[in-house]
Amino acid sequence: MKPRFYITTPIYYVNDVPHIGHAYTTLACDVIARFKRLDEYDVFFLTGTDEHGQKVETAAKNNGLKPIEFVDKVSKNFKNLLNCMNFSNDSFIRTTEEKHIKSCQKIWEKLLSNGNIYLDKYSGWYAVRDEAFFSENEIVDGKAPSGAPVEWVEEPSYFFNLSKWEQKLLEFYESNKDFIFPKSRRNEVISFVKSGLKDLSISRTSFSWGVKVPNDENHIMYVWLDALTNYLSACEYSKEDDKFFKKFWPADIHMVGKDIIRFHAVYWPAFLMAADLPLPKKIFAHGWWTNEGNKISKSLGNVIDPFQLVDKYGIDQIRYFLLREVPFGNDGDFSNAQLVNRINSDLANNYGNLFQRVISMIFKNCNETIPLKPNKFIQEDLTLINSIKNSLNNYRDLIDEQKFDLYLKNIWIVISNANKYVDEQAPWTLKKNNLERMEVVLFTLVETIRQISILLQPFIPDTAKKILDHLKIPHDQRKLQSVDIILNGDFKISSPNQLFPRI
Ligand code: MSP
Repeated sequence: MKPRFYITTPIYYVNDVPHIGHAYTTLACDVIARFKRLDEYDVFFLTGTDEHGQKVETAAKNNGLKPIEFVDKVSKNFKNLLNCMNFSNDSFIRTTEEKHIKSCQKIWEKLLSNGNIYLDKYSGWYAVRDEAFFSENEIVDGKAPSGAPVEWVEEPSYFFNLSKWEQKLLEFYESNKDFIFPKSRRNEVISFVKSGLKDLSISRTSFSWGVKVPNDENHIMYVWLDALTNYLSACEYSKEDDKFFKKFWPADIHMVGKDIIRFHAVYWPAFLMAADLPLPKKIFAHGWWTNEGNKISKSLGNVIDPFQLVDKYGIDQIRYFLLREVPFGNDGDFSNAQLVNRINSDLANNYGNLFQRVISMIFKNCNETIPLKPNKFIQEDLTLINSIKNSLNNYRDLIDEQKFDLYLKNIWIVISNANKYVDEQAPWTLKKNNLERMEVVLFTLVETIRQISILLQPFIPDTAKKILDHLKIPHDQRKLQSVDIILNGDFKISSPNQLFPRI
């Protein structure tokens, strides 16, 4: 049986149109999911939309629509983003779906019957933009730590006994050192928990756009308890038949932005422990993009639209840039000049050019036929051919550690070595005096391009497919393991098309 792998994105608030930040998180998950499929895992890759809460209710009102009409409309924009960026999610959950509502009620009842929920009254600060409660000592200059405006809330509320889980959480972090990544976030979470946890208000009565609390019509669930539960709903937690749930839960990775680490690394594991459910294996919190040095925000009018970017530069170009430019986990600054630079130098001049020159030479000089696999290679050939083959486990580790930039850097070292090899071996000279050797050199290069393109499928799927199609590689030989099967050669190819136009 294949090993299983479950990966999730945050579910996105539908009060906003999708921007580059949303595309970034889902892209990281898409690359991991595609890589794991190549490595023969049975993958479940989930994304979706977070459609309840005060923020969405207000946005609907401002648009003159009923909440359900508004969310039906806006969640489509997020679905469109999936196509636009070539994302390969297996499922898309909306929190207004019946099966999600049932899951929320199921976990609520479990928490209640386990004695972890009690009714009281909440009085304190609430930031609608963050959908989060804050105590007096967290307020900075009259605002939430994120800068979001806060309002004073006083209402009856159900509470989750979060304080009871403080010690258990600390023990869990201690014995699961890889639970929170990167390390700096782990330290931040641990010191937050050590500073003392207060019980958490988990229901609201002052508005109605949410999941109803079972047996108490006046309350709706706090939107974060509702939202986090999506990870269970999507794998059929509410179904009687729990085969799918047992197969995929717990998740292998919840990918989130650093802004929502507390919800995922503190509240979520506490809810799960309290409901006797297994905990996810890893929470990875990545950094934030700024735009030419400025925080991206609607009010500054500098939101980067992924649809426009893809339209202007191409899908694979954007996918490559976002993951190559900034070490995953760090903050990054989006600069158009840098984007153009990466496209021209890495994609067009290095990878594109390698493919173009090698295939053209074969087309012109080898009777449009990839040379037959030679029986003798010299050391220079073998060094190139083996450079990817011998480090497959290293690539696996880099994906498991979310080091996308290093993964790409390593491949580009091979690409640049291959370009150097072309210059050193000078097949155009061999054409005049040693045809046999010319064929070995061109074979070595095509074989290297084949391996590189197999490894690049998760990152630039369209281009990798174009190349593998051009090389007539059968679909069942595009897996990670297939890197080891050396080409046989001796088949016709067509003349190459340009892969990445220079900008
Ligand atoms: N609905 C909640 C998540 C619930 S998960 C159970 C939420 N949604 S959100 O629409 O605000 O999206 C949050 C995610 O979008 C962030 O965690 C981050 O992954 C991504 N980003 C939003 N803006 C971003 C940047 N400027 N840069 C990078 N990613 C950012 O929070």
